[in-house]
Amino acid sequence: MTADAELTEDTFTRADFQKSAQFITGRTRHRPKVGLILGSGLAAVADRVSQADVIPYHEIPNFPVSTVPGHTGELVIGNLDGQALVVMRGRSHYYEGYSIQRVTLPVRVMRELGVETLIVTNAAGGVNVDYQAGDLMLITDHVNLVGMAGLNPLRGANDETLGPRFPDLTDAYDPGLREMARESAREQHLSLREGVYIMLAGPSYESGADVRFLRMIGADAVGMSTVPEVIVARHGNMRVLGLSLISNSLGMGHEKVTHEQVLDAGRSAIPKMAQVIDGVLRRL
Ligand code: HPA
Repeated sequence: MTADAELTEDTFTRADFQKSAQFITGRTRHRPKVGLILGSGLAAVADRVSQADVIPYHEIPNFPVSTVPGHTGELVIGNLDGQALVVMRGRSHYYEGYSIQRVTLPVRVMRELGVETLIVTNAAGGVNVDYQAGDLMLITDHVNLVGMAGLNPLRGANDETLGPRFPDLTDAYDPGLREMARESAREQHLSLREGVYIMLAGPSYESGADVRFLRMIGADAVGMSTVPEVIVARHGNMRVLGLSLISNSLGMGHEKVTHEQVLDAGRSAIPKMAQVIDGVLRRL
């Protein structure tokens, strides 16, 4: 294979996931049952994890290392709200040049670690005209636009010990966890939008016509991550909760989007995001 082909396709086997998991297990005393992936600007949500063991991604076999500012690139394993959890402080994206199999490898590794519940967060553009920057959105469902074009992390031979060949994605975002997130937001007097997340490959942001199209096909928020991770998690029968921070509005005649704006919005929403997650962890 040429170097380019290696970037676009990777073949990992269960032994690869187990190798990464064994490396992690050797570096922490915790045995996490919950995984948390923190998106753009949200890394500080992990700061409250206690008795934390921290492992930089570049030390873990096969882990993709994020090249994007705002994605710290370390695994934080410890306790929060009575749960043992493993937190990804930053993630990698397909647009960075990693294969979709490598982007989703950390989710496979979490499953090998014994994680049963995965909480995914991201920063997203608000496609729904009612959404404003700073809103939190509970992901009720997704549109896998990149998957419709052929980019699916499950492409290739299927290992039945990881999950079925044709996994079902009805209620991919667990109804029970969604209800916990609603209760958590209500209890803390936080407003929580609910909507459909759509993934585009990025890294360019959307044109005006793109946004009108996304709105037409049922999207409320758009981003460049999350969906492949959720597919892999559901393939492995993990329960999934998804939360988007609306970092910018793509409403009628939307203004230019910058990565700095996305990161700033993420940082200012950290307390709200952390509160909703706290409430969910306490209910698990
Ligand atoms: N578009 C795509 N991804 C994003 C956006 C956006 O407007 N904001 C944050 N992530």
